[in-house]
Parts: sequence; structure tokens; C-alpha cells
Amino acid sequence: MKKLWGGRFTKSAEQWVDEFGASISFDQELVMEDIQGSIAHVTMLGKCGILPQVDVEKIKVGLENLQQKAELGELQYSIKMEDIHLNLESYLIEDVGPVGGKLHTGRSRNDQVATDMHLYLKNQTLNVIELIKELQIALIEQAEQHIETIVPGYTHLQRAQPISFAHHLMAYFWMLERDKQRFTECLKRINISPLGAGALAGTTFPIDREYSAKLLGFDGIYENSLDAVSDRDFILEFLSHSSILFMHLSRLSEEIILWSSQEFQFIELDDAFSTGSSIMPQKKNPDMAELIRGKTGRVYGNLFGLLTVLKGLPLAYNKDLQEDKEGMFDTVKTVIGSLKIFTGMIATMKVNTSVMENATKSDFSNATELADYLANKGMPFREAHEVVGKLVLTCIQKGCYLADLDMMEYKLASELFEGDIYDALQPYNAVNRRNSAGGTGFVQVQIAIEKAKKLVK
Ligand code: ARG
Repeated sequence: MKKLWGGRFTKSAEQWVDEFGASISFDQELVMEDIQGSIAHVTMLGKCGILPQVDVEKIKVGLENLQQKAELGELQYSIKMEDIHLNLESYLIEDVGPVGGKLHTGRSRNDQVATDMHLYLKNQTLNVIELIKELQIALIEQAEQHIETIVPGYTHLQRAQPISFAHHLMAYFWMLERDKQRFTECLKRINISPLGAGALAGTTFPIDREYSAKLLGFDGIYENSLDAVSDRDFILEFLSHSSILFMHLSRLSEEIILWSSQEFQFIELDDAFSTGSSIMPQKKNPDMAELIRGKTGRVYGNLFGLLTVLKGLPLAYNKDLQEDKEGMFDTVKTVIGSLKIFTGMIATMKVNTSVMENATKSDFSNATELADYLANKGMPFREAHEVVGKLVLTCIQKGCYLADLDMMEYKLASELFEGDIYDALQPYNAVNRRNSAGGTGFVQVQIAIEKAKKLVK
């Protein structure tokens, strides 16, 4: 098979060399974007009088045929044609004849491939934003059921203060909100057209880049042709926002794994999102959460892979840039799959409210209440901390909790203690009283949920 650049060559590469250089095995993912870009390009060539309208129409018919065939999965690609661009062009010429060879007037594969990637990533970013929203909705819906479910809050993975379980879940809502903002914000830079930059220097043909950009739904064009063909920042942004998103998903995965352990038993994952063991019949494993925690590795890896590919590249196009694709496709697929799984996992998880609440009764996470109590009555907080610390020590020595000490013992520790301390020690009251903005008090949690609902409308 003759290559599309065959003119300058006297000898063809061997099969295994072709295989090494080809990207068709993975860049066929861009088939629709590539055809879409070509239709816009040839329309522009017609409008600018660069190609006669009859030629434009013939080429367009050929491209639309290709579109149909691609949709039906009827296109067979060849390694000899290296990549999706050359494969499609050779199909086109086969279909419409030599006039198909006019499509490539005033463009290069360098601006063509960049255009495809921009189009592809724009669609995928929009998908990701929607899927983040769905996960946020699942979190809100769980949170709404558990505003008054009390659970230990942790620092250092030691029980710290009781909190509303809804408040804990909603912390992840806000992380995802920032993720969503980041993806939305980077669309500005994704949705820019490199088309018409040519190989690197622009073209002698009187093209209209703004026009083809508009046909493709881009918001604008790259200002510099060298930058247009060599920029992959927009992919890096997508990969880094995905990495931050996965850091969040991985943290929540870790908590889900802990919570569903025998030791915690705070939640139970639905059977549909768990797996059993091939040897231990009793087991129900949080595989999906573990897998998402694990997939964080490849998402970070893809970011570092591309950062490293780009470092030290001279302008403009270099074949190294072909290495921008597989990591990007992999991250897109991983992000989309994981968000869907996560949404299902959160929506169906069962919360063991009584286990959570019992946990808050058998610990010292209400100690701050006592210190606040004394501070409210005028004792400097540092002193109050000391007094309560001693009471905790007394309890530990006696093998009981703060609510078990009698009034005598409290009076001995400080005259400021009155009978109402027993109310203050109740975890429910401790949570409810933390009514500062953004705190875990039920009123605050309710306010936060209302705000959150507006953000996902
Ligand atoms: N397959 C190539 C890539 O993905 C397309 C651009 C090729 N350009 C070139 N001058 N060899 O980067």
C-alpha cells in the first residue's frame, strides 16, 4: 500500500517499524472528532474560495459516508496508514477519487490532531462535570437522611468530637464542588481552535480560522501557530484536575473501606457493589472502593507521564507528542467509570445509625463539652482543659466515661459544675450546639444542604 507521503521515499519501512510508529491502535478513538474537524475545514475552504464548491460538496459527501460507516463500526484501519488521520484520508480518496486529496489543502496533521484532541476533551470534560454532579446529588440524598445521625468525628483517626454524619458526607460534596469548578474553568482553554495553524507556521492560503473555529463550536483560536500545534497544557489541566478528583475519591474510598470493616460496622455496602471471597465464605469485600483507591495510581501516573513527555520539547511538533493520547484516554475512561460506580455505591449504601450513635456514647469525644462549659462560666480555657483532662484520667483509672461520674466528683474538680453538665455531655446536644457557620450543628448542616442543592440544580 502506497503511503500518502510516498513521493520523497525510495524504500518503505518494514512492518515492525511501521507498527512501532503507528498510533492507529489507540487514536481511532478520535474518529468522530477527526471527521467533524475535516468537515469544518473543507467547508471553510469552500467559503474562502480556496476550493470550488463542487469539490467541497464531493468531499463532504465522502466524509459523511465515513461518519456513517464509523458509527456502524464498519471501518477497518491499517497500520500502514499510521494513524486515524491518514486512514480516513485514504478511505476518502478511495471513495470520492483524487478530489479527496484536496481536503488537506492549508492544513497539516499537526493542527488536525490538536483539533481532534480539543474536540474530544471538550466533550469528555462536559461528561465528567455531569457525572460529578450526580455523585454530589447522591451525597446530598444520603446526607439528608442523616442530619441527626451522630457519629464520632476523628482527628489522627482518634475519636475527637461527635458530629452529624451528614456533615461528614457533605465535606466530600464541597471537595467535589471544587473539582467541578476546576473542570468547568479549564473548558475555557480546551475550547480553543488550533485548526489552520498548519504544520507550525500558518499557511499561504487565505483561510478563515475564526470561521472553522465557529463551525466546530470553539470559543476562539490560538493566537500563535507554533503554540497551537505544540500546546498540550489543556490535557495537562484535565489530567491534574482528574488527579485532584481522584485524591478526593481515594480518601472517601478509604473511609468507606474502614467504615464497612468488622471493627467499625458503620455502613454496609450494597451487594451490588461488593464481592465475596473465593475461599472465605463469610466475606463481603468493598472491592469497588478499593479499586478506585488503587486507580488513583494510574491517574497520577498519566499526569506525570505527560508532564515528562512535554518537558524539554523544542517547538513545534515532535513525534513525542503522539504519546499524549493513551494516558489521556485512560484517565478519561477511569474518571468516567469510577464516578459512575461511586454514585451507585453511595446511593445504595446502608448506614448503621445505631452503631454510629453507640460509638459516640462509649468514648471521651464529649470532653471538649466540659471544657467549654467551664470556659463559659468564666474559667480560662487552658485551666478548664486541665481540669477536664484530670477528670478523663479519673475515668480511665475507674474504667468509666465522663457521664458516669457523680456530681460529688464534678464539684470536687470544680465548684463551677452544676447538674446541667449531664445534658451538655449528651453527644446529640454536643453536636447541636456547634452552631457556628460551617459547623456540625443541625441547623448549619441543614443550611449547607440547601446551599448544596442549589449548586446541583
Ligand atoms: N499520529 C500523530 C500524533 O498523534 C499525528 C500527527 C503526526 N504529525 C507528523 N508530523 N508526524 O501526534
